Amino acid sequence: MSLIAGAAAAAEPGGQGVVQVPSMFAAASTPAGIIADYSVLVFGICAAIFVVVAGLIIVTVVRFRSRPGDDDREPPQVYGSNQVELAWTVVPVLIVILLSLVTARNILALQKDERPEGWLPVTAIGHQWWWEFHYPEQGITTANELHLPVGRPTFFDLESQDVIHSFWVPQLSGKTDLIPNRTNHLWVDPFEPGVYVGQCAEYCGTQHAQMLLRVVVHTPRGFESWLAHQRTEAVMSPGVAEGRRLFESTACVNCHTVRGTDADGRFGPDLTHLMSRATIGAGVASNDRAHLLEWVTDPDHFKPGVRMPAMKLGVKQVEQVVDYLLTLK
Ligand code: CUA
Repeated sequence: MSLIAGAAAAAEPGGQGVVQVPSMFAAASTPAGIIADYSVLVFGICAAIFVVVAGLIIVTVVRFRSRPGDDDREPPQVYGSNQVELAWTVVPVLIVILLSLVTARNILALQKDERPEGWLPVTAIGHQWWWEFHYPEQGITTANELHLPVGRPTFFDLESQDVIHSFWVPQLSGKTDLIPNRTNHLWVDPFEPGVYVGQCAEYCGTQHAQMLLRVVVHTPRGFESWLAHQRTEAVMSPGVAEGRRLFESTACVNCHTVRGTDADGRFGPDLTHLMSRATIGAGVASNDRAHLLEWVTDPDHFKPGVRMPAMKLGVKQVEQVVDYLLTLK
């Protein structure tokens, strides 16, 4: 199953809506639109050059081909022509100037130093091989599935925990690298609610290809209610006490946070609202009981090389831990 098909299949259980085809020509945000328009302009200019050059070659080949009865003498040779020399110097220079000016204007627009009122700050951190999203104003952290509002631009701080990754959601913006010990910036302003998928775009190790990004764009109202839900602490169900005890007494808590409990590890994804996500393992499988059982038993099965170890729990214990995880709504 391809990642995109997997993401589409996974769209249903989470109830997040239709997953869009990640084409950079189906721009759904201003920066992506700028890049798509620029690509069309460059393609148009190149196509025009191709038509002129190929057309002249064809005309020349047909019109001046050798015919029966031609004599074998060499035709008159032309050395130097001011008109021709001027034409093929001036026209390319004009094209280069035009493209430079448009490029400069686009770079300024993509960097957008002035931030409009009401902008939303989000910090995206690349890990081998998953994404961490932190909303500093709301104090919430989630993984792999980014939630954004329409009608309000989001400005990202892009960071990395280990190696260089690259954030790329083709319908929302161009690629920008996440580099250790450096903060890069990116902004998006999605036009329509929906699910937009992307992918890490810089080779970052074995599971680079399984660093899927899902961006769920909400109406402003829907976004507020998502935030309100994410701000709450984990609710404890009495029926899963044994699973919780296992989770908190094994190495799980060294890597995972469940707000409202003693689990405060930072190395792996925050699990406080695990079940609000449609996928696990950065998009490798849909988030349901069967996949969680497989994942906790042996994460390597889905993602060979994954940093999460198999905890070597018994079948019964894995079920208890997963039943606890299923309550983290
Ligand atoms: Cu992260 Cu490629």
